Amino acid sequence: MNEQTKLWKLSTPIDKKNSAIIEAAELLKAQQVVAFPTETVYGLGADATREDAVQKIFEAKGRPADNPLIVHVSNRDQVDELVTEISAIAEKLMSAFWPGPLTLVLPSNGRAAKNVTAGLSTVAIRMPSDDTALAILNASGLPLAAPSANRSGRPSPTDAEHVMQDLDGRIAGVVDGGPTGVGVESTVVDCTTENPIILRPGGVTKEDLQELVPGIIVDPALAEQDKQPKSPGMKYTHYAPESPLWLIDGDERFFKEQLQQLKDDGDRVGVIASSELAEQLDHEPVIVCGSREDLTEVAGELYRALRQFKKADVDIILCETFAETGVGAAIMNRLQKAASQKIIQH
Ligand code: TXA
Ligand code: MG
Repeated sequence: MNEQTKLWKLSTPIDKKNSAIIEAAELLKAQQVVAFPTETVYGLGADATREDAVQKIFEAKGRPADNPLIVHVSNRDQVDELVTEISAIAEKLMSAFWPGPLTLVLPSNGRAAKNVTAGLSTVAIRMPSDDTALAILNASGLPLAAPSANRSGRPSPTDAEHVMQDLDGRIAGVVDGGPTGVGVESTVVDCTTENPIILRPGGVTKEDLQELVPGIIVDPALAEQDKQPKSPGMKYTHYAPESPLWLIDGDERFFKEQLQQLKDDGDRVGVIASSELAEQLDHEPVIVCGSREDLTEVAGELYRALRQFKKADVDIILCETFAETGVGAAIMNRLQKAASQKIIQH
């Protein structure tokens, strides 16, 4: 795969007549793949009804074929065109959280291409709230299958530059709408069971969902490593930085001890820390990912931090753990995967 990747830099505000949006939409209509920002992370889009177009996403990312994609829509009619039915609970969730970082798994009517659903009888759909994403969806008139726009296994991109690092020369274009806001992916909720199930924690929190749907449960496989998760994508290595990542679960003193031990062994250690912990450390290099007291800030910085340390500079990366409340559940889910479960507990 070797093609010229076009990079459009958008100026705000976005309008539908913007030539970058029109060009990107034309490429998508011509079965090409184009990356664009959403409010969560950058997505790599293709016409969700065309198997040949969707195949290009899998090739560009090096994504396993049994991992289904999320279909992005800009209006309700597009949902009706892809599913057999919408339960009352799904309706409720859509009206409360769309547009926004919530993906619903619904019964597919088969109109989404086979490789979008990886042969499942369900299809995952979300309506993003980002203006650029909506403008591209509207200009193309297509439902767009769009996984995160990273090479498979790498941290998701929260900036057009991250997309170029991974996919330059492998895709038709990237629409640069600046850094994304939420920073972690959408929450995936299976709405095909009587009680909806959270398959992947994300931008919409469990607490928010429970307020509306008290019976909602979290896929037990998320907590237990030996169980097969219901969401196929959750079983793969994910979000991995260039050097091994260890999570340090303990107080500041414990973190310092672990850090010192590695330094004594001659390891070059990079640290990802909250501003509170960073203040306590006499160490370089440290990447601060926000305050412990503001987990939305940490979510916004997480993938950037994971991409920052290069193999040439550090042998190992240490990161603290965060409270699993609110968006903290998504942060810890991603960190555990990025660390391949390497957690040092006090
Ligand atoms: O925020 C997001 O959701 C981003 C942006 C670009 O919208 N997209 C994203 O896509 O994170 P991706 O492909 O990286 O993750 C899709 C997740 C995977 O865990 C996949 O297994 C799950 O959704 N999924 C997709 N279709 C499914 C289905 N029919 N049933 C269960 N899980 C499904
Ligand atoms: Mg992804």
